[in-house]
Amino acid sequence: EKGGYEHFMLKEIFEQPEALKSAIAGRIKNGKPIISEIKELEEFIKKDLKKIFIVACGTSYHAGLAFKYFMNRYSKIDVDIEVASEFRYMNPHVNENTLVIAISQSGETIDTLEGIRIAKEKGSKVVTISNVFGSTIPRESHGAIYMNTGPEIGVAATKTYTAQIAILYALGAKIIEITEGLTEEIEKILSDIEKMPEIYEEVLKNAEKVKELSREYVNYQHMMYIGRGFGYPTALEGALKLKEISYIHAAGYQAGELKHGPIALLDEQFPVFAIIPKDSLYEKMKSNLMESRARNANIIAITTEGNDEIKELTNEYLFVPEAEEALYPLVIAPIIQLFSYYVAVLRKLDPDKPRNLAKSVTVE
Ligand code: M6R
Repeated sequence: EKGGYEHFMLKEIFEQPEALKSAIAGRIKNGKPIISEIKELEEFIKKDLKKIFIVACGTSYHAGLAFKYFMNRYSKIDVDIEVASEFRYMNPHVNENTLVIAISQSGETIDTLEGIRIAKEKGSKVVTISNVFGSTIPRESHGAIYMNTGPEIGVAATKTYTAQIAILYALGAKIIEITEGLTEEIEKILSDIEKMPEIYEEVLKNAEKVKELSREYVNYQHMMYIGRGFGYPTALEGALKLKEISYIHAAGYQAGELKHGPIALLDEQFPVFAIIPKDSLYEKMKSNLMESRARNANIIAITTEGNDEIKELTNEYLFVPEAEEALYPLVIAPIIQLFSYYVAVLRKLDPDKPRNLAKSVTVE
């Protein structure tokens, strides 16, 4: 059932071209969003929607964060996001003009479930993105969008993370179409998502190279992931993947925050993993890399194909194909997943069953 792969996690990483294809099938066509699951909410979105609130945990939260950056760039709608365990105990500012988007692979995460119950009591509409048909959170929502990626067995979320981002962008585009009207820029992003399965085939060809590089990082005790803008959710997700399955302490930061504390940690024992595609924040990221290097930190970076100056700035680097800024979270995800997978395996750990963790968190 592992299809010849050593672990489910590796199989699921390699399934991403197919998983993404089925996640967007019938949802994006020729650059246009089609989300039939929210048909009944279209009136609400058109007339009443004033704010979107995203509620999720862990990796699903990181997908939500990428979506927040997407909506911030391409729409005027107010978007807020909170991890579900905070959302449910705060006084969330949601009401009958709010669309709550819950993201949950399992559809059973207790905090997310309690979060949407509160939102419904306050009169909000709820749409859930989930991978498990008939699970509780989508059943209790006004709209349910199933990811259709096939079951994910590994505790680490991989193919469902990228499917979530693709679906969220399509959903966001649909909301924008209803409220403000689609633009060519957004249509271009959606048609690039349609090409993502082929792009993934290319990205996944780097697996051997990632394995080689990961050897250099097996014996560290810490790792700092940094990114800016759309690179920030990727930094958080990279750090979560690494700590979850390799038990190396890792944290993700907005690179601009380095100077406000975290840079004090850096030295030759504390490497930096930089998410530095050639996007609008490249020069800013480059300064952060140079500052990190000045502290003798080992640097591994993911950047855009053809960015040859990266060689001078880093110890190790990997290229990904050029993409629209908003799509780098999708393009880079398989690399950070493979990196943590190989580090875990080289540390002789079972990435499918990390200690202390369950696939579905049904208790607080
Ligand atoms: O099923 P959910 O998407 O609600 O789960 C949320 C988190 O528990 C989950 O993403 C967790 O962080 C993963 N194990 C990360 O790989």
